[in-house]
Formats: sequence, C-alpha cells, structure tokens
Amino acid sequence: MSLEIEIKFSLNGRQTRLKVSPTMTTLAMLREKLDLTGGKLACGEGECGACTVLVDGHTINSCLMFAVDCDGRELQTIEGLATDAGLEIVQQAFVDHGAIQCGYCMPGMIMQARYLLDHNPDKGRKMTRDDIARGLEGNVCRCSGYTKVVDAVAAVVLEESPS
Ligand code: FES
Ligand code: FES
Repeated sequence: MSLEIEIKFSLNGRQTRLKVSPTMTTLAMLREKLDLTGGKLACGEGECGACTVLVDGHTINSCLMFAVDCDGRELQTIEGLATDAGLEIVQQAFVDHGAIQCGYCMPGMIMQARYLLDHNPDKGRKMTRDDIARGLEGNVCRCSGYTKVVDAVAAVVLEESPS
C-alpha cells in the first residue's frame, strides 16, 4: 500500500482536505484529484508558466511544488476567478482583445496577469506595455504572438485605474 499524507488547505475560498502521495505535484493534485484542469502541464520544469496558480497570494509554478506543501496554505486557480456574475475582468479582456489562440497557456498567463495587476511593482504610476511584457515574460505562448495579450492587460490597467 502506498503512503498517502492528509493535507488541508483553502482552495478558491473553500476548505479542502484530501490525501496525496508525498511525490505528487500540486499541478497533478489539482488536475487529477480535484478535477481543476485549467492549469496545464507543458514543460514540467518551471520554465513556461502554463501551470501557474496563486499560493498565499503569490504566483508559483505548480508543476514544481509538492502537493503536501499546500498544507495550511491558500490556493487560487483560474477556476476561482470567474463568479456567477461572469468572467473576471482579466479573463474578459483576453476574450475581448482576441488574445486567446489555442488557449493552452492562457490559464497560467491570466493568473500571472492578475497577480501583476494586483502587485504593480511601481505603485506610483500606471504600468506601461513594457512593464506588462516584462511581468509576463515567464509565461510562454507558442501562438498568440503576445501583442494581444499585452493589449488585453493594458486595457485592464486603464479600466482599474482610469485617471
Ligand atoms: S508546466 Fe510548470 S512551468 Fe511549465
Ligand atoms: S494561446 Fe496557444 S500557447 Fe498560448
């Protein structure tokens, strides 16, 4: 019988308890045990950002984090962004600006964009397109060409801080 460890954590605002193997990644736990398949496995090495989720308010590559290390933490995944009222503003902007092509990278890209918008490195001024491009450089997209992604995030910058 294989060893499993019980962990408890907050997942998209809900207390969650489950048993995981000590070697399971957070990404595998989300996808295989919790059926949250927004985050994707691509490189599996922390290089592409397709698996990006928020842990305690910071973006992480969930392919590199052991599931057992989620114990006591607060996780947010792409599935936790939209509400009954509709898509979250960043999701909607990606749709409106045609930023999504095959979509594989997009859950991770949107989580990173949300983080960036919430943690503008220079609070004293609005993020520029260069700031946005730099902030998203850890998220690889093979098909959008990035321009529309930056358009979408830049539109949210304006919407969230219009003056
Ligand atoms: S799949 Fe996790 S960083 Fe690429
Ligand atoms: S939209 Fe296809 S990889 Fe980004």
